[in-house]
Amino acid sequence: MFSPENFSLQGRRALVIGGAGGIGLALARGFVASGATVLLAGRDEAKLQRGESELGQVGAGPFVYTVDARSVSALETLAETVEREHGGLDILINCQGTTAIKPALELSESEWDAIIDTNLKSAFFACLAFGRRMLAHQRGAIINITSLAAHYGWANAAAYSASKMGLSGITQSLAAEWGEQGVRVNAIAPGFFMTDLNRERMPEARKEEARKRAAMKRMGELDELVGAAVYLASDASAFVNGTTLRVDGGYLSSGI
Ligand SMILES: NC(=O)c1ccc[n+]([C@@H]2O[C@H](COP(=O)([O-])OP(=O)(O)OC[C@H]3O[C@@H](n4cnc5c(N)ncnc54)[C@H](OP(=O)(O)O)[C@@H]3O)[C@@H](O)[C@H]2O)c1
Repeated sequence: MFSPENFSLQGRRALVIGGAGGIGLALARGFVASGATVLLAGRDEAKLQRGESELGQVGAGPFVYTVDARSVSALETLAETVEREHGGLDILINCQGTTAIKPALELSESEWDAIIDTNLKSAFFACLAFGRRMLAHQRGAIINITSLAAHYGWANAAAYSASKMGLSGITQSLAAEWGEQGVRVNAIAPGFFMTDLNRERMPEARKEEARKRAAMKRMGELDELVGAAVYLASDASAFVNGTTLRVDGGYLSSGI
């Protein structure tokens, strides 16, 4: 029988890769408020420590892990360490990401590699490193943060769109492979939220266009992403697998 308790994350261990970033830290805050123990991972140790002191978790840490998620061996080491130090993981959020807003004809090979390795390769191998261990426990929820660019190609974002469409495909494939064994894999596609990822990179005209084209005529507030993530991570979504939840204020529904 349904109970509101199904939304609780009490006793769950969650890792947010990209957890010190704008969206990652907002999700981490919401998960702590919902009862989870939250581990933050990323490259910038100082940023991670600032994030963790904001979360103010008490009890058995560590809560912060430095990792360059583009490295498959570093992800494997991270998964081993988390298993040893926390006894496993219930929830993985792939929230790492980067972009470059420029015409396809100007995109260099190294920019392409940086975007694909950060947004696509790292998320796939993080799913494998942690998913393998979740499968052994027959339980786990993985949430991949995609984008509206996983649904439509955007001008000046070819590599970003390729990475997010790829991540959407990986989400569905892993959901199909692992669902029977108790591991669910879903995605959240955020609309526009102002963070370090886009604050400086998006020209003012593009920001204005993003607001205008959203059905709600505004960008999202970071906390407005939390409900979707708590839902997908919790038992409230026990039969939800391989789906993408759009949190975009109706952007993709609004047409022109
Ligand atoms: N903001 C939006 O409007 C929006 C919309 C749709 C989708 N998204 C997606 O949401 C996710 C989070 O983005 P955000 O907006 O919160 O941007 P953000 O504040 O820049 O956060 C991105 C995070 O990714 C981490 N990261 C980047 N490269 C990494 C690597 N190689 N290894 C480990 N961590 C790495 C960064 O931490 P370090 O620098 O410490 O490594 C940073 O904390 C991204 O996947 C993005 O594509 C954002």
